[in-house]
Amino acid sequence: MTLPGVLLLDAAGPEAALLATAAAARGHEVHAATAAANAAYGPELKGLLAGRVVTDFARLDRALDEITAYARRRGVGAVLTVNEYLTELAALVSAELGVPGNEPGRARAARDKAAMAEAFAAAGVHVPRTLVVQNEVDGDQVLEDWRVGFPCVVKPVGGAGSAGVTVVGSLAEAVAAVEEARAVASVPRHAGDPAVLVQAYVAGTEYSVESVTQDGVTVHLAITRKHVTGGTARTETGHSLPVRLAPDVESAVHRQAEPAIRAVGIRHGASHTEVVVGADSRCTVIEIGARLGAGHIGVLVQHALGIDVWSGLLDVALGRPAALSPTARGFATVRFIVSPHAGRLVSVSGLPEPGPGLPLVRWRAAIGAPVRPPRANGHRLGAFVVTGADEAEVEERAAALARRIRLRVEPDDRSHVSSASTSAIAP
Ligand SMILES: Nc1ncnc2c1ncn2[C@@H]1O[C@H](COP(=O)(O)OP(=O)(O)O)[C@@H](O)[C@H]1O
Ligand SMILES: [Mg+2]
Repeated sequence: MTLPGVLLLDAAGPEAALLATAAAARGHEVHAATAAANAAYGPELKGLLAGRVVTDFARLDRALDEITAYARRRGVGAVLTVNEYLTELAALVSAELGVPGNEPGRARAARDKAAMAEAFAAAGVHVPRTLVVQNEVDGDQVLEDWRVGFPCVVKPVGGAGSAGVTVVGSLAEAVAAVEEARAVASVPRHAGDPAVLVQAYVAGTEYSVESVTQDGVTVHLAITRKHVTGGTARTETGHSLPVRLAPDVESAVHRQAEPAIRAVGIRHGASHTEVVVGADSRCTVIEIGARLGAGHIGVLVQHALGIDVWSGLLDVALGRPAALSPTARGFATVRFIVSPHAGRLVSVSGLPEPGPGLPLVRWRAAIGAPVRPPRANGHRLGAFVVTGADEAEVEERAAALARRIRLRVEPDDRSHVSSASTSAIAP
């Protein structure tokens, strides 16, 4: 019997490669929808793809037609994506093909933070007070609105990876923040939506909930502690899991995540719900993604909990029972390597080597490339994952390894060379 084909919407990046590898290992033909015929996929994908359909993801209707026509021709029976920007399209394609996927009518709400805020409010999810700036004229009015106040957070409605997100302390800082959010919004993958969200700032500790839903039933794989930069820009500098919260706090987090997952129509697939837990243990949902958490969270789940999350997601997409129970009780953390200065990267040394308890080391910045302190997750230069049985030992080892990494960054104007090399990891 021929197995159904598996289609990935965008196959770039390590998570897509792991999904493709899991599918191919089980004998499925793996296909990719890509934005360009020459999309540069890494060596992991070489030889794995049975075929691809080239489309323009920014033109949703056309992409839907082209992808579904291709999928029917090639016997595709499962559609997956790990690309935040393509989760709505994945829901539309799955519905059109009649294969397991999320509710197409609600999928936009997992991508568009204005629609998300509305869907959450309607579902009774606890969210920060959120206002939408549709155009330049009403910007000041919204920012002066007493209901949001300062500090507040300005972000593009269609953004991801902290791009264009600014924590704003006063009206004076707000104009530049709105402009920055608009600049991010103008890139085609956000479909040019210029709307900007102004949201009350929620103080507390940031976590994410990694969940998988099958036939509308949700399993929480882990709660993850998020390491972020402080200040006006909030870049993710690490993730650690599983976090063991006090039982009442953990259930408060799950009680918020579950209606949030339903509100954006997640029925078959992964989700990543970002929350803040305040000093009073109150849990507020910041946002949700209808996909596996990025930043190697799947690798952390695999190593800490012994869950083959890629195989599980494949089963969900194929409509087969997925094995998502933990088979290990360990701990894992990822640390991202970032530049402390703006300039050109001259050298990097002291990167850890993969080995026992260190399953992943990734470096993506070329020597000579421009680098900068991170303004968004896309400015991170590399990452490594540490795993082990004991949380404190894992965190200590990760911190020690981070201290050994040295970046030399030369100022761009070359008027003076920074003589001291600097530790590469944000706190
Ligand atoms: N309302 C908020 N209160 C406090 N911090 C926030 C708020 N909104 C966003 N942040 C911070 O900014 C980061 C990025 O914002 P987020 O809404 O998650 O956008 P993105 O889709 O780019 O990840 C969050 O991880 C968090 O650190
Ligand atoms: Mg986020």
